[in-house]
Amino acid sequence: MSEGKHISKHTDTMNQKDIVLQINNLYKSFGDNHVLNGFNMTLRKGENLVIMGKSGSGKSVMIKCLVGLMEADKGSISVMGKDITTLNQETLDILRADIGFLFQGSALYDSMTVRENLEFPLRRHSEKFDGKVDTNSMVIKALENVGLAEAIDLMPSELSGGMKRRVALARTLILQPKIILYDEPTSGLDPITAKEIIILMQEIQKKYGTSSLIITHDVDCARVISDRMILLIDGINYAEGTYAQLSISKDSKIKAFFKH
Ligand SMILES: Nc1ncnc2c1ncn2[C@@H]1O[C@H](COP(=O)(O)OP(=O)(O)OP(=O)(O)O)[C@@H](O)[C@H]1O
Ligand SMILES: [Mg+2]
Repeated sequence: MSEGKHISKHTDTMNQKDIVLQINNLYKSFGDNHVLNGFNMTLRKGENLVIMGKSGSGKSVMIKCLVGLMEADKGSISVMGKDITTLNQETLDILRADIGFLFQGSALYDSMTVRENLEFPLRRHSEKFDGKVDTNSMVIKALENVGLAEAIDLMPSELSGGMKRRVALARTLILQPKIILYDEPTSGLDPITAKEIIILMQEIQKKYGTSSLIITHDVDCARVISDRMILLIDGINYAEGTYAQLSISKDSKIKAFFKH
């Protein structure tokens, strides 16, 4: 198919236990709009995998299928070796507590304070901590991790775009996820704030050893943070490789991503 395909050959031979997320042959259409046409993806333990694709290419649709907010038409998705389509609701909820999802745009609850926004997932997944949670200290620690302890009693409307993104990140981190899915973590932010968010993502990855799937069309973000990249084009994993490998590709569809 594309030249990216042979760059990724090693994916087939890697150790199964190092795989934390796997998507095989995913299809999703809305009427005649065929968004995903056999998309494949593998996320390994501890890695930062960036998925790039044009606006409307299906990045958010893919990530929504991954977390069960949307049902795929065909294909399989496994999380830490378990096929999510075969699990019962209870097991699925436990597994979901291991996956943090930073929504495109932050998606804080506008009617709740920062503290209440962070308490919400803790209450929802209290089983993860055996019911023994010191909510207050966990909220404070999560906010300290993103440098925003002083914002604890503010409402989302009182925060800047960058602060909202940090609070959303704190809300994701509070459940101590093994995997974090970021949907456009830097979009809508000025370049300096975007850089601060990227640095924060790197610090978190180092501190907790999380595996991250990062959806972005910010080429600078991809260059700085990615261990590996997948280009989502025409509904498939059109090309895979490191930033260095893909950025010198001669394929015109791949080249289009890298020219400024
Ligand atoms: N709930 C839905 N119902 C119908 N069509 C949808 C729905 N969600 C997404 N789509 C369509 O699926 C396609 C992919 O949308 P998606 O939101 O995944 O794009 P994206 O790659 O995330 O774009 P962006 O970079 O702008 O966020 C679009 O054509 C969109 O109109
Ligand atoms: Mg999107």
